[in-house]
Amino acid sequence: MEVIIQNKTEDACHLTARLIADAIRIKPNLVLGLATGRTMEAVYGMLAKMHQEEGLDFSRVITFNLDEYIGLEPEDPCSYRTYMNEQLFNHININMANTHLPLGNAEDPDAECAAYDKKIADAGGIDLQLLGIGRTGHIGFNEPLSALRSRTRCKALTPGTIEQNAPLFDDPKRIPRRAMTMGVGTILESKRCLMLVTNAEKADILAKAVEGPITSMISATAMQLHEHCTVIVDEEAAANLEQKEYYNWVFANEPEWEKYQD
Ligand code: F6R
Repeated sequence: MEVIIQNKTEDACHLTARLIADAIRIKPNLVLGLATGRTMEAVYGMLAKMHQEEGLDFSRVITFNLDEYIGLEPEDPCSYRTYMNEQLFNHININMANTHLPLGNAEDPDAECAAYDKKIADAGGIDLQLLGIGRTGHIGFNEPLSALRSRTRCKALTPGTIEQNAPLFDDPKRIPRRAMTMGVGTILESKRCLMLVTNAEKADILAKAVEGPITSMISATAMQLHEHCTVIVDEEAAANLEQKEYYNWVFANEPEWEKYQD
């Protein structure tokens, strides 16, 4: 795991977008794992701008989102499908047939989850997975006690997550109690992971995720097991990290990061 601390939230989002764009330029048919949530909105705005102004080409990119609410139709204004269309897909030249999210209103959600893992495998696995972290420490919707080897499946949301996401619903009572989510094991199979964490409200959970013991109570700690996970944070989110100086030294001195110093 490596941790990159950027002074401003905007810089952390920009570095994340640049790393995704570089991965697409290297492999135009990249299999890209995507996340939703407020943190990612700026990243998607930047990627859309890179498409419009620099010609970043998404025509062969294949995407798999981490999760979707159970019970919502794709067309629901609060579904993650709608979020992705509005935040990113409608602004780039992606082939919509290559964009995947679990189907929230599937008749058989368990079968839908199993089919989702198969689709990922059939695409050759995820090359680059973008991740955020919830206040409960979840990645995707892997709430406390998610098995570290779990696959895509249905998961009950915690009251904390429901409260965190309720403002995004016109009627907070409409927020589903369950979601389909890639499992921790599914996420760990991605070839590379980029975790973006910003704002002071995430400082406590980020320190636990990066520097605390690995536990299924905080699924983000599982990323310590991943061979190539880069955690990008702003100063506020980094506030409680003990080894900040070391992380800054690595970023400033490792040749891999030289071109991202500006
Ligand atoms: C959603 C997802 C979640 C979010 C997390 C943070 O697809 O993967 O794990 O990344 O809940 O959400 P925000 O960015 O809204 O704080």
